Amino acid sequence: MSPLNVALIGFGNVGGGVARLLLEKSERLAQRAGRPIVLKRVVVRDPSRPRAVSLPDGMISSDVREAILDPQIDTVVELIGGTTAAHDVVMDALAEGKDVVTANKALLCTHGDAIFERARTAKCCVAFEASVAGGIPIVATISQGLAANQINSIEAILNGTSNFILTEMLAKRVAYQDVLAEAQRLGYAEADPTLDVDGTDAAQKITLLTRLAFGTKVPLSAFPRQGIDTLELADLIYAEELGYRVKLLGVAKRVGSKLEMHVQPTLVRREKPIAQVSGAYNMVRLEGDAVGSLWLSGAGAGAMPTASAVVADLIDVATGRAARTFPQLDLWQSHPPLPIQPPEDIERRYYLRFNVEDRPHVFAEICDVLGRHGISLASIIQHEVPEHDDRAAGSDAVPAIPAVLMTHRAREGQFRTADVELEKLACVRTPRVRLPVAD
Ligand SMILES: NC(=O)c1ccc[n+]([C@@H]2O[C@H](COP(=O)([O-])OP(=O)(O)OC[C@H]3O[C@@H](n4cnc5c(N)ncnc54)[C@H](OP(=O)(O)O)[C@@H]3O)[C@@H](O)[C@H]2O)c1
Repeated sequence: MSPLNVALIGFGNVGGGVARLLLEKSERLAQRAGRPIVLKRVVVRDPSRPRAVSLPDGMISSDVREAILDPQIDTVVELIGGTTAAHDVVMDALAEGKDVVTANKALLCTHGDAIFERARTAKCCVAFEASVAGGIPIVATISQGLAANQINSIEAILNGTSNFILTEMLAKRVAYQDVLAEAQRLGYAEADPTLDVDGTDAAQKITLLTRLAFGTKVPLSAFPRQGIDTLELADLIYAEELGYRVKLLGVAKRVGSKLEMHVQPTLVRREKPIAQVSGAYNMVRLEGDAVGSLWLSGAGAGAMPTASAVVADLIDVATGRAARTFPQLDLWQSHPPLPIQPPEDIERRYYLRFNVEDRPHVFAEICDVLGRHGISLASIIQHEVPEHDDRAAGSDAVPAIPAVLMTHRAREGQFRTADVELEKLACVRTPRVRLPVAD
């Protein structure tokens, strides 16, 4: 059979892994695809830079247009990242009638509609397995393996950098900033880690999964999003004492006729599989009405795990599978989308930590505020502290000590109005921490 000729646009971490697989495992891939998959062109910004993977002479260039317009090229693999040049690469390739494979969740989140529409008009396909959870085949699982199910919930750790930092903070009892510096040194965090640690990356990924699983397109602004960059070690330790782990959890689930979504550091019971995912790993828990619960775990990033997903997409394109499955994906909202639950109506349990004045009646004041907003307490931790010297010396200053409260379920709106009143209480001092607890 005729080969599938590929142009690789981007030859960095992931591009290097893809080239390695295509060049070194060509026989295996040809067998799986039923035809050779041939790397014909590689495009980068600076072809003169030394590369970890050596390419045949004359293959690398910096001319994107030439590669896309080359009539020999069947499929364009976009691995440059970002939403500007990558957008042009994908749109131009589709306009030329070439199938596209990409690992770029930011691009699909920002320009997915236009890209999918152009692909549909051009009768081409866009394959994007590597854009969510790296090596975990989550797109294929939702769109093919679970096609008989109604997906009821997705609960996932989708950012390896954040999970690595949380794991190290707890294991080594080190503050966020110190672990971040170590993660950057080890290559687990980018020089600018903002999108990983502020929850944006995980939010982009959960919106892609939401679109596939529920057919609903959700803007990032429509659901609560918080990263790990403001977390304190103390909360990880208190959570442990209560039998929980803090994880940056992305959630999308059906609640009645609505879709509840959030990406937040969340307390998860320690014995649950998702609480036990450590280091830079990802996990996705899916619940379908026929299959029940499924857990998929593995490397959510890295050159070879991500290349594994990109090359699986290339095999799907080569066999013609992608051309059959792509039009079936729930990307065009042919049915009414599931409406999003307004954030103030999301009902959960919460972990609260305040510094409170160490004097009588403090808990009565706090419980009064919470109680008047319909929030009931499940437990309280206040550790004994030594008698304060200043009190013994007759000082007027009332010392503050930490108090941790676990609540029963209540709506986010109830907590928001209670927060306003708690802030005004003289007995409650900063920090005031509120983290959701997973069911
Ligand atoms: N890294 C991961 O573990 C991972 C995991 C999942 C998904 N992804 C996604 O995969 C994509 C690639 O990530 P990466 O980590 O491989 O990035 P990277 O290491 O920064 O590599 C980017 C490559 O693109 C080239 N490039 C950038 N702008 C270009 C332009 N305008 N024209 C031509 N070439 C250009 C660069 O050329 P030079 O080499 O000359 O600079 C480089 O080879 C991103 O969308 C990312 O989100 C990455």
